Amino acid sequence: MMQIYLMDWLSLVLKLLHIIAGIAWIGASFYFNWLENKLDRLNNRDEIAGNLWAVHGGGFYHLEKYKKYPQTLPEPLHWFKWEAYVTWLSGISLLSVIYYFNANTYLLAANSSISALYGVGLSLLGLLLFWLIYDLLCKSKLGLKAESDAEETSVLTENRVTKRQKLLNLVSKSAIFIAIIFIVIAFFAYFYSNIFNPRAVYMQIGSMIGTVMVANVFFVIIPVQKKLVDACENSTEVSLELGQIGYLRSRHNNYFTLPVLFMMISGHYPTIYSGDYGWLILMAVIAILVMVRHYFNLRGVGKAKNSLIAIIVISTFALIYALAPSPIKTQDQNQQIVTIAEAQVIIEKHCVSCHAAEPSNKAFAIAPNGIMLDTKEKIIAHKNQIYQQSVLSKAMPLINNTNMTDEERAKLGIWIEAN
Ligand code: HEC
Repeated sequence: MMQIYLMDWLSLVLKLLHIIAGIAWIGASFYFNWLENKLDRLNNRDEIAGNLWAVHGGGFYHLEKYKKYPQTLPEPLHWFKWEAYVTWLSGISLLSVIYYFNANTYLLAANSSISALYGVGLSLLGLLLFWLIYDLLCKSKLGLKAESDAEETSVLTENRVTKRQKLLNLVSKSAIFIAIIFIVIAFFAYFYSNIFNPRAVYMQIGSMIGTVMVANVFFVIIPVQKKLVDACENSTEVSLELGQIGYLRSRHNNYFTLPVLFMMISGHYPTIYSGDYGWLILMAVIAILVMVRHYFNLRGVGKAKNSLIAIIVISTFALIYALAPSPIKTQDQNQQIVTIAEAQVIIEKHCVSCHAAEPSNKAFAIAPNGIMLDTKEKIIAHKNQIYQQSVLSKAMPLINNTNMTDEERAKLGIWIEAN
C-alpha cells in the first residue's frame, strides 16, 4: 500500500521533470532552427554570417552568428545539452516506474506468453538496437552520401541562396535513407505489437526514437561542438565535414520531434492505438507528422508547398475515416434497450475491482486516475469516458483482465448512446 502510494509520487515528480526538461530541449531546438532561418545574412561585419534583432519580454536582443568562430574563446560559453540528457534520464526512469515495474499490467499484451523480465529485456534491447542500426546507417555509404550531398550546405557556407538550394537537394536525396529508417521503425512496431499491449507499443517506439535523438546529441553533436571549440582555442582550421556530421544528426532530430511528442501523449487516446492495426496507424501518424515538420522547414526557407498541406490534410481525414467506429452489433438484433441496471451489472463485474474507493485488485491502492464506477451516479457521470475506453476501444478493462466480451461492450454502448 505504502509502496504503491510512494510510486505514485515518484511517477508524478519524474513526469513533471520529464516534461519540463523536454520543453526546454525541444523549445531551444525549435528556437535555433527558427533563428537559422531568420538570420539577416546581408548586412554584417566580415566574420559574421548573420544577425538578428528581436524584442521579447520587454527588451531588445541582438544576436550574431559567426562564419567560423570568434578570435578568442568567449567566457562563459553556453551549451545546450543537459536539457536533452535530463529528458532522457527522466524518461527512462518513467518507463521503468510505469511500464517495467508493472510489466504484467502495463507492458505485456493480454495474451502474451513471455515473462515480465523477458519483456523488459526486449524493450531495452529495442532501445539499443534501434540506435545501433540508425547510427550504422548514418555512417554507411547511404548516410555518408547524404552527408556528402550536404557538403556545400555546411554551416560555414556564406551564401544564403545556394545554401538553401543545396539544403533542399539534401532533403530530396535523403529519401532512401528516410525510407529505410521508416521501414525499420515499422518492423519494430509490428514486432512489439505481437508481445506488448497496444499502449506500450506506442511508448516503446517513442522511447526508441527519443533515445536516438539524445544519443545524437551525446555521441555526435556535442563531440562535434567540442572539436569546434578546440579549433577556436588553437585557431586551427575546422574541416567542412565536421559541421556536416553534426548538422545531419540535428536535422534528423528535427524530423523526429513531432512523432515522439505524439507518442508521448498517445496513451490518452485508445481509439487511435488500440485497434487491430495499431502499429500501422502509428506509422501513418508518424508519416503525417514528418510531413508537417517538412512543411514548416520548407516554409522557413520561403519554399512552402501548398500541395504538401493538401496531402497532410487529406491523409489526416483518411485516417480519421479509417478509424471511425463501426455501428454496434449485438447477437440479439432486437435488443435495442439496455437499462442502467444492466449496465451497472456489467460495470460491477468488469470495472469495479479497480475503479472503486478501495479497489479489491491489490495492484491499486486507490481508484486509477481517480475514476470510481461503484454507484449509478458515478457511472452516469463517467459515461462518455466509459464509452471511449470500453466501447469505442478495448483499452479498458486493463489488458481485459476481467475477460469482458464484445457482447457486453455492445450493451454498454447501446445504453450510453441512448442516454
Ligand atoms: C485491472 C484494473 C482495471 C480494470 C478492471 C479497469 N480499469 Fe480502467 N483504469 C485502470 C488504470 C490503471 C487506469 C489508468 C490508466 C492510465 O494510467 O492512463 C484506468 C483508467 C481508466 C479511465 C480513464 C482513462 C483516461 O485516460 O482518462 C477510464 C474511463 C476507465 N479506466 C474505465 C474503465 C472501465 C469502464 C472499466 C470496465 C469496463 C475499467 N476501466 C476496468 C485500471 C483498470
